[in-house]
Amino acid sequence: MYRAPRGTSDILPKEQAHRRYIEQKVANICQLYGYERIDAPAFEDTQLFTRSVGEDTDIVEKQMYTFQDRSGSQITLRPEGTAPVCRAYLEHGLHNLPQPVKLYYIASIFRYERPQAGRYRQHYQFGYEAIGDADPALDAEVIDMAWQFFESLNLHHLSLQLNSIGCKICRPGYLTALKDYYANYTHDLCSDCKTRLKRNPLRLLDCKKPLCQQIANSAPKSIDYLCQQCDTHFNQLKRYLELLELPFTVNHCLVRGLDYYTRTVFEIQPEAEGAQSTLGGGGRYDDLIEELGGKPTPAIGFAAGIERIILNLKKQNIPVPALPKPQVFIAYVGNEAKDTAIKLTSTLRKNGIGIIEAAGSKSLKAQLRQANTLGVHHTVIIGDEEVKASTVILRDMTTAQQQTIPAAQLPGLLK
Ligand code: HAM
Repeated sequence: MYRAPRGTSDILPKEQAHRRYIEQKVANICQLYGYERIDAPAFEDTQLFTRSVGEDTDIVEKQMYTFQDRSGSQITLRPEGTAPVCRAYLEHGLHNLPQPVKLYYIASIFRYERPQAGRYRQHYQFGYEAIGDADPALDAEVIDMAWQFFESLNLHHLSLQLNSIGCKICRPGYLTALKDYYANYTHDLCSDCKTRLKRNPLRLLDCKKPLCQQIANSAPKSIDYLCQQCDTHFNQLKRYLELLELPFTVNHCLVRGLDYYTRTVFEIQPEAEGAQSTLGGGGRYDDLIEELGGKPTPAIGFAAGIERIILNLKKQNIPVPALPKPQVFIAYVGNEAKDTAIKLTSTLRKNGIGIIEAAGSKSLKAQLRQANTLGVHHTVIIGDEEVKASTVILRDMTTAQQQTIPAAQLPGLLK
């Protein structure tokens, strides 16, 4: 028996309502904030991700699905959605449009991770990017949009974590201070952090091991090393967030797992669980477009995992509307009745009435049982007598009351 690959899952019909509900909320919020949809390919040149996400990140080092295609090109299934959007921005000359260009996506994401609740090898993200402006008011808007999105889903007990990790001017000074501090703790660090200290010291702050976290808590803070411009930017952002009454917490250990970030980084987490189950995160990436061959172009964005949103909706017992389905079933007895049922079903569907037709030659009792299981409001029943008289029996499935009516009246009545 074949099974879905480890860390992936089939999204069965009974699980679709949550997704459609979230997609609806995504479309609403994106329209409110002026974001337009973009769909990029599921795979790209490997280099796009190694250059943007960063060689020394977990994603590039351990998690990418990379392969050579039949023509020898190095291909990677997208492990995140920001780099493809930036590539598309450059490829299609979107810098010629009024800036910032605001784009959103809902896309499958592939990361070779150790599967557990809320962590999969294929997951879906809703993300959005505002490209072409450095104004901290745009950061505030992007953060506000994420917050309002979760509000619109009625998800509560969330926390908004914020930090600024500086720019290429002030970051080197901060990294030096960080390395100096950690030099005193090399023996206490976990093996991953020992490597991070050499290759990507910012990520030391992000380790989830208790002892490493304890050391990180007293580490130098990036906000104390910001250059004048980054400091002003961060202060203005905080002022705007206060103006918008967003309840943020500055978390100096928040650094994010991708290397393209500059200045603002933020995450939204369920209060009870913290960083392990982050619902969504984002930040500025002012150097990325230039890194990919464009002109210097500031940008900021955010993405949230759809499966984690669903897990939280379920945990918080938030109901989602059921998907619409046919409310009429048509049952028949005998071959002539079957012909009539086939024609009538077609007429009803052309009139916009969803209807499920019995299949095969089950007894009427079995057909009614099926209608019951399907949960339809009404069943149309046709037998020899009804065929002769051009009538149908209409059964109300809740009350079990039946009435005989002329077949011609059925579309109008059901409507
Ligand atoms: P990220 O934090 O790597 O950011 O992923 C965004 C969200 O995707 C996470 O907060 C989480 O909810 C979900 N997620 C990540 N990995 C998994 C997984 N293995 N299984 C299930 N859900 C997962 C980014 O990818 C950035 N591109 C976000 C961004 C957009 N930054 C700027 N613009």
